[in-house]
Amino acid sequence: MTINLHDPIQIGTVQLKNRLIMAPMQQNQGTPDSYATDYHVKFYSERAEHVSLIIIESTVVSANGRLFPDDIGIYTEQHTLPLRRIVDAVHAKGTPIFIQLTHAGRKAWPAVTKKPIAPSAIAYDGEYVLPQTMTQADINEVIEQFRMAARRSRQAGFDGIELHAAHGHLLHQFLSPLSNRRSDAYGGSLENRVRLIQEVLGAIRTEVGINYPVQLRVSASDFADGGLTPAEVALALTYLESELDAVHVSSGGLVPAAPLATPEGYQTPYAAVIKQYVKIPVIAVGNIRTRAFANFILADEMADMIAIGRPLLENAKFGEKMLSLA
Ligand SMILES: Cc1cc2nc3c(=O)[nH]c(=O)nc-3n(C[C@H](O)[C@H](O)[C@H](O)COP(=O)(O)O)c2cc1C
Repeated sequence: MTINLHDPIQIGTVQLKNRLIMAPMQQNQGTPDSYATDYHVKFYSERAEHVSLIIIESTVVSANGRLFPDDIGIYTEQHTLPLRRIVDAVHAKGTPIFIQLTHAGRKAWPAVTKKPIAPSAIAYDGEYVLPQTMTQADINEVIEQFRMAARRSRQAGFDGIELHAAHGHLLHQFLSPLSNRRSDAYGGSLENRVRLIQEVLGAIRTEVGINYPVQLRVSASDFADGGLTPAEVALALTYLESELDAVHVSSGGLVPAAPLATPEGYQTPYAAVIKQYVKIPVIAVGNIRTRAFANFILADEMADMIAIGRPLLENAKFGEKMLSLA
């Protein structure tokens, strides 16, 4: 049977009515203390009925891991209340909603994070602060922050979690040999570099159990010599997939390097590589704009779901358009 964009699918226990989902996109509309606002409630609810799943923007698990002065966070009990309003508004449209959890590590915004932490003391670039090398105590604290964030995410009513290990955020920094030069149990071999993600997933599972969807976003390439490649990320996922319900395949962001071009479906070949290694559903994203192209990806079994981002910024109903037009 040939799969197409209109076919339903499950991510763990959550049923999606079709395979077109909204990619997480930072809105820079949070308060100075990372609270979600009315803007977010309106923004996500307007887009909800035209896709089968909303994944909200990266939401920080720690004040020390903040991305921007106007990001959103879930690092205290109080942060859950405005997030609950987003969840309720999206649920009112009949659509499930996941939260993307992250810690910026060395990509913490200098104006809001004075002492960023990272696997190794290597700055992202000249505009960012030199991070402090994380001690075992720092690592334990970050794991605990993700665990508490998972607890609050479920309390806020989210239907699942996307753990952000892409775009050069902290978990990606541990995975890539370019940013992780540690010589302890968290650095060196792939088995060691994947350990923090494993431990964070384990902590999240102690909170939410096995029936709550948890997926991982990865960058399949660092676009730099010595950095991660799609095959290595696929291998890393073989260590992680027993704790995961899906994987979302993006690329880049670890170092200031980008692909030479970003044509239609530019990241889909990475999803296709990863799909050959894992049994969990794979989400492709990146300049996928037509139903015909999405159906080609699904029919060819390069991925199981399609995420769209930028077109939804301009047009809240773009999902509906994509599902209906050829
Ligand atoms: C304004 C903007 C904000 C973004 N914020 C996030 C984010 O918070 N988390 C994330 O993983 N990706 C983020 N992304 C990347 C998107 O999720 C997506 O992968 C990217 O835009 C490519 O998909 P597209 O071609 O359909 O837009 C952002 C992209 C844009 C344009």
